[in-house]
Amino acid sequence: MSGKAAASGRRVLVTGGAGYIGSHIVDRLVERGDEVTVLDDFSTGSERNLSQHAGEARLRTVRGDVLDAEIVDRLVSSHPLVFHLAAAVGVRHIVERPLESVLTNVRGTENVLASAHRAGARVLLASTSEIYGRSEAVPFREEGDRVLGPTWVHRWSYSTAKAIDEHLAFAYAERGLRVSVVRYFNSYGPRIDERGYGSVIARFAGQALAGVPITVHGDGRQTRSFTFVSDTVRGTILAAERDEAVGGVFNIGSAREVSIGELAQRIRDGLRSASPIELVPYESYYPKGFQDTRRRLPDVARAREVLGFEATVPLEEGLERTLAWCREHYGSTATR
Ligand SMILES: NC(=O)c1ccc[n+]([C@@H]2O[C@H](COP(=O)([O-])OP(=O)(O)OC[C@H]3O[C@@H](n4cnc5c(N)ncnc54)[C@H](O)[C@@H]3O)[C@@H](O)[C@H]2O)c1
Repeated sequence: MSGKAAASGRRVLVTGGAGYIGSHIVDRLVERGDEVTVLDDFSTGSERNLSQHAGEARLRTVRGDVLDAEIVDRLVSSHPLVFHLAAAVGVRHIVERPLESVLTNVRGTENVLASAHRAGARVLLASTSEIYGRSEAVPFREEGDRVLGPTWVHRWSYSTAKAIDEHLAFAYAERGLRVSVVRYFNSYGPRIDERGYGSVIARFAGQALAGVPITVHGDGRQTRSFTFVSDTVRGTILAAERDEAVGGVFNIGSAREVSIGELAQRIRDGLRSASPIELVPYESYYPKGFQDTRRRLPDVARAREVLGFEATVPLEEGLERTLAWCREHYGSTATR
């Protein structure tokens, strides 16, 4: 399918391209005819995510670490556009492996930005809605304050590391780097990994399919905004390529808010599962300490005005497509 597009001549590097969002970006780039190189250490990404491109000459996969400055420099210097998504992702991962996560998320990004600055490449940096921490200024505006807990609660290190990434990006921008930043709000879609760390939708779907209790943390009234992956990808590519986006930071998310309790019910119903929905205290899942964000909703005005981007896939449709994929790909004994 993708091999039929006319070559665009664009050479694009995607770090973390074997991951969930990265692989969907790769799909889109290959489909439109770009020459794509993926740099990934396959820690949370998988070859399966790119298997649809087997034999595709326009996709090259390099197994390597963004902490390896030499390999990063070599690849960045031959790709004028870089999507930097490689990161230790997900609050649980960060809570369990705080040191590795901080180092990957700060040093890895520093390597990418330094090389891009030297080579004159343009960079798209993947950041996160976690940046806003537990701010109550909902919906979150890009210029809003960040409100974080204490430094010994590891949960906040992901937000802080990504904020340092953004600071680095803007510091390099002052020296001429063409960079833009996207802050993702809970992306979901095919390839979300139930054994991975990030997605509550993946976890609920795995539990519903296994017929075990769907475990909702806290009271279930905390809300999130879920963004279907085709919207996530479209917003990312616009931010990476539009001239107006250079030096900017953009929320990439849906303006619709849903409670986690309601989400659990939708997933149970969508999968026709008999799983009960159980409320569990955060401490039973995150023994080393956890502080939650009650509401997380993007202000989408800047993305609309500067990028012409708006999330368009309704939750009902996105969930249907995602759950169909989960039904096909998750084992029926899957649980966590
Ligand atoms: N999924 C979301 O809703 C969401 C929300 C906010 C931010 N993000 C950001 O988007 C990006 C992609 O996240 P994702 O959800 O696709 O997660 P993912 O875990 O599927 O993707 C991360 C990819 O990076 C790779 N990677 C990790 N460490 C690496 C290293 N040291 N060197 C090379 N590759 C490495 C992994 O193998 C994986 O393929 C990340 O930067 C993440 O912080 C995602």
